[in-house]
Order: sequence, then C-alpha cells, then structure tokens
Amino acid sequence: MPFRQRLAAVKEFSTGTERLRDAGGPVTAFTVGPRWLMPPMVLATSPEAIRDVLAVKDASVDKTTIVFDEMRRIIGSNLADLPFEPWKPRRRTLQPVFTKQRVNEFGGHMAQAAQSVLDGWRPGSVVDLDTECRALTLRALGRSVLGLDLEQRADEVAEPLRIALSYAIARATRPVRAPRWLPTPARRRAREASAKLHRLTEEILRDCRADPARVAPLVRSLIAAQDPETGARLTDREICDELIIFMFAGHDTTATTLTYALWSLGRHPQYQERVAKEVAALPDRPLTPDDIPALGFTVQVVREALRLCPPAPTGTRMATRDVEVAGYLVPEGTMLVVGRMAVQRDPALWEDPLRFDPDRFSPEKFKAMNRWQYLPFGGGPRSCIGDHFAMLEVTLALAAIIRAAEVQSLAEEFPLALHFTMIAGGPIRARVRPRSAPGSVPEPISLPH
Ligand code: HEM
Repeated sequence: MPFRQRLAAVKEFSTGTERLRDAGGPVTAFTVGPRWLMPPMVLATSPEAIRDVLAVKDASVDKTTIVFDEMRRIIGSNLADLPFEPWKPRRRTLQPVFTKQRVNEFGGHMAQAAQSVLDGWRPGSVVDLDTECRALTLRALGRSVLGLDLEQRADEVAEPLRIALSYAIARATRPVRAPRWLPTPARRRAREASAKLHRLTEEILRDCRADPARVAPLVRSLIAAQDPETGARLTDREICDELIIFMFAGHDTTATTLTYALWSLGRHPQYQERVAKEVAALPDRPLTPDDIPALGFTVQVVREALRLCPPAPTGTRMATRDVEVAGYLVPEGTMLVVGRMAVQRDPALWEDPLRFDPDRFSPEKFKAMNRWQYLPFGGGPRSCIGDHFAMLEVTLALAAIIRAAEVQSLAEEFPLALHFTMIAGGPIRARVRPRSAPGSVPEPISLPH
C-alpha cells in the first residue's frame, strides 16, 4: 500500500484496518514513519493472529504503548492502563466485584432509567437516539452504582472525560509531540478536565463513607475489595482512579451500543417485532436482571450491534520481546494492533458481513463460533471486566424501550466518530410512537407497571 494510503488507513479507525487487512492479510506489518518517531506496527486481523496477541499471560505483550502511557499521565493508573505486573493484583482485587451475580445487584435501576427517558417522548415525535441513550446510561450508572445523580452533573463527567482522553489519544497518534513540560492550551485543558474528574470521584467516595445508607453498590464494593492473595485493600487514590475509568468505560461504550441497536431495530421492523413479542411475554411489571434468560433474541440483537459497531474497534499492545503471531516472528519493540472491527466484518468469516442479522447469534451458532472472531469485549487476561454489566444494562434498556415504544429510524447511515472509543458521529434521528397495546394507547409513552 503506498505511504499516503497507509497513513490515511491508520488514521481512519473504522474502515482503515479493513483496508490494511485487505492489502496485507491476517498479519500485516507496516510503518508510518521512521522508528524514532513511531514504532513499526503489526496489525492482527485473523482469529488466530488476534488470539496470539491477546491470550498472552505474561508481560511479553503489554499495555506499554504510548497511548496507555499518555492515559496514565493524564487520568491516573487504573485497571485499563496499568502495565502487566502492577495490573495483576489490581485485577485480582477487582474481579470479584464484577461477577454475573454481583452485577445483577447493580442492574436494578435500569428499568427506572429507561422509564424516565421514555417519559420525555411524545407520540410521533422525533428524538435523537444518541442523546437519549447517553442520558439513560448516565442516569443508570449514577443512580445504580455510584449513588449520585450523574445526569444533573453531566458537565462534570462526559465532557471532562472526552477532553482528557482525546488529548491522550491525540498525543499518542501524533508523530511529533510537544515536550511534556510545555504548558500548551490543550494540555492545560486536559489537566483541568482530569482535576474535575478527580474532584467528583473524591466527593462520591467521601459522601458514601459519610452516609452508610446511601445506595452506591459499586463504590461500596471497591471500598470492601481485598486482594485474595495478600489481603491488601485499595487506597482512596486507587478507588478514585478506578471510578474514573468505570465512568468512562461504562458510559460512551454502553450508550453507543444501545443507540446502534435501537437504530438497527428502527430500520428492521421484523426484528423489532420479535423483540417486542419477547418482552410482551413477560409479566406486566418493570424488568429486572432475572428477566434476562427470557430475553434471548434481545441479547442476540445486542450482540449483532456489537459486531457491526464495536465501541473499541482496535486495541494496542507492545511486544516487549520477540513474539510469534500466527506463525510470523514479530520483533521486540513492535506495536501490535488488534483489528476487532476488521475481524468482526471480515467477508471470509461472516456471510454478507455488513447486513444486520441477529440470527447469526442464535444459541447454536454462537456456541459453534470461533472465540477469536467475535470479541467486542476483547479476550485473554485483559478482556473487559464490565462485560456482564454492559450486556445486562443494554439488554434491559433495549427491552424496556421496545416494550413501550415503536422506533422508526429516519437515517439510512449511522455516522461514526472516534473519541477514544467509537461513538455516533452525529444525531441519530428516529420517530417514536407508543407501541399499541390492545384497547389503549398510552400517552406519553410509558412502561406498563
Ligand atoms: C458495551 C460496553 C463495553 C465494551 C464494548 C467494552 C469493551 C472493552 C474492551 C474491548 C476491552 C479490552 C481492551 C483491550 O484489550 O485493550 C475492555 C476493557 C475494559 N473495560 Fe470494557 N467495555 C464495555 C463496558 C465496560 C463497563 C460497563 C466497564 C466498567 C464498569 C468496563 C470496564 C473495563 C475495564 C476496567 C477494562 C480494562 C480491563 C483490564 O485491562 O483488566 N467496560 N472493554
């Protein structure tokens, strides 16, 4: 691939890796500049190559790429950006907080969060699904796990997170960077944003300690968490750093998945009907985590949304010694890039890959699928710790919305943008109507209670 095209493909987070895959193959080595500016890169896009990068259980493939280094410097050390050795005890300590059973305790407020969004919808009105889903996830995250009304304080969460993380990624992808000591306006803004986030999490922790009656299961779990091997607890600083990454990871990613799933159902009424039927078969009360086993098709819709629109379309690692990737020798000092979006849309692996088809994820097909061809939550030791929580949240919210409303998408395309994770690149307009129940048309749209 000529240099200019290569550079453009690297910068384009969405289809860029697909073009590199098509030009190179399952393991594509390339450079975008001299070694002293940017390390050589290897893009892995086949299930085998991705497994060889992600399944490594030691520090030979580590999160020491410049993007994680920049992230640590701006928002602090957390589970997502720590290098392997300090990461191990942190993961051991936090893993029990996110088991399926524990996250079910966090998921209880989802139906109320969906209801409060639905309360604002007028029959026949046009809404921006992205704005609505963002409000919903912020509400659920705040009330159900942090004990704070985050929606009221959105300007202290969403915007600072974007500013801080966009700064980290901009520095990491720029071949020439200003020295760290130089007080550039972008750096000042990023530091201010990070300070705002730290102030907010310190307040969450303080209030939670001061008021034992406050419902904040995630914060309480972090306070109580103990390393099963050493018995060590997290310091207040570590708890705050983790709360920041959970707010980040639990907001944009989940909101975008829900938006994409709703937009897709709004374009495919036949699938929307199937979700509506499934949820209509449940008793007439707010949905709870116990309803998930009866929402099999709704889960399939969420999985298909995550296939076509993985909020983390790529991931990076550093080869800290020579490693083998799908039979190729990758030298130490190479940046490894995992093409999640490329493998999840590969025509060699998926029939008609760009078509939205939740039946790809029927229980039998999902069971038979290669574990490394579908990895919206990553894989190996550093896979997403919040996967159960995210699936629970999106499935319940989707079911709750479709139970009450009919969604008709007005746009044929779903524009994408990258703000560290992949998000909607503009408003996603849809017309919403109450789902007609025999005998009555509720107004405003509301969930049956
Ligand atoms: C749809 C929603 C989500 C998606 C698609 C997603 C995706 C991912 C992916 C792909 C990774 C692995 C990154 C890598 O290999 O470099 C990851 C890691 C992580 N995610 Fe998520 N995530 C989601 C929701 C959440 C939620 C709700 C939380 C927490 C409340 C969370 C917390 C984390 C953390 C802490 C890590 C780092 C884990 C480690 O390195 O030990 N994520 N996520």
